[in-house]
Amino acid sequence: MNFVAALNEAAASNLRTLEAQIRQAIGEDPFIFEACAPLFQGGKRLRPMLFLLCANAKADCPPEKTMPLAVALELIHTASLVHDDIIDTSKKRRGVETANSKYGAQIAVLVGDYLFAKAFQLVAENDYGAEVSTVLSKLVKNLCVGEIRQDRSLFEVPTLAEYYTRINLKTAIFLSSCCRLGAIVSDMTVREVDNLTAYGSGLGLAFQIIDDLLDFFGDEKVTGKPHGGDLKSGVITLPVIRALEVSDEAAELKRIVTTGGNVDAAIKIISATDAVDYCRTRAEAHIESARVNLPLTLKTPAALALEQTADFIVDRTR
Ligand code: IPE
Ligand code: IPE
Ligand code: MG
Ligand code: MG
Repeated sequence: MNFVAALNEAAASNLRTLEAQIRQAIGEDPFIFEACAPLFQGGKRLRPMLFLLCANAKADCPPEKTMPLAVALELIHTASLVHDDIIDTSKKRRGVETANSKYGAQIAVLVGDYLFAKAFQLVAENDYGAEVSTVLSKLVKNLCVGEIRQDRSLFEVPTLAEYYTRINLKTAIFLSSCCRLGAIVSDMTVREVDNLTAYGSGLGLAFQIIDDLLDFFGDEKVTGKPHGGDLKSGVITLPVIRALEVSDEAAELKRIVTTGGNVDAAIKIISATDAVDYCRTRAEAHIESARVNLPLTLKTPAALALEQTADFIVDRTR
């Protein structure tokens, strides 16, 4: 069951339409369908649902105007995951075997490219206009720069500022763009567009901080992706950055994370510090800053749904 389905009937109905249209979008080519259908059986659909919630937040926006773009957002997100799993040599995603593990990196690159191209085809064919295309292109460019910055410094401890730059580029800009696009397609005022963008940005920072915590402390059966994957692939994130600042065993932790050493030993050192509480407090602060940016002009149920989405992001286990 998807998180937003519980929010309200309109969101649940949108979600059903979204699922049907995603299957249609990947169904054109038999191999793409075979490679992607299992992957699309999982996933939270956070990005398209955020977009749809925002698009319908002030007044109802017809599905013909929103659905193709909602599908495009999920295709772009999934394309980035397919490529991310090649980069991280990850074997599991959304509870199933990754495309790179199943078909090899060569085919997985092309599956990801196909999903990107299909997304932009949907946008072009539905006349969303230059502003929407610009937001989408920029979010993909930023995501790539974020991933490149991260992958050029594997097994190195980033400064706090560098960590924030990366998570902003690779995740927060995507979530803020989903909210921004919802506001744009439903013709909100410039101020409302900017406020919903800021809401999405706070959500995105919190979302990646929690993702980085779940990488160490989540349950693989629930997250659907490998436990300790960041440490093994040399990606050093906030729980480690904090523990390195405050732990008595910082030297040993540094040795582990800069050599891709034992995940359990790292977890033990991190757990003996305040790093988990620190990360949660940081995530909650970003959620709070998201919340204060919600425009007061939204319909009450929509504002409530966006508040609940913010809560879900810190409370989630997947
Ligand atoms: C995973 O995103 C990538 C990150 C930005 C952390 P999600 O956690 O939204 O992935 P799915 O769509 O639910 O699989
Ligand atoms: C986000 O970061 C990945 C993308 C922006 C594609 P992660 O590398 O933490 O994502 P997961 O944990 O593999 O889903
Ligand atoms: Mg990854
Ligand atoms: Mg992660």
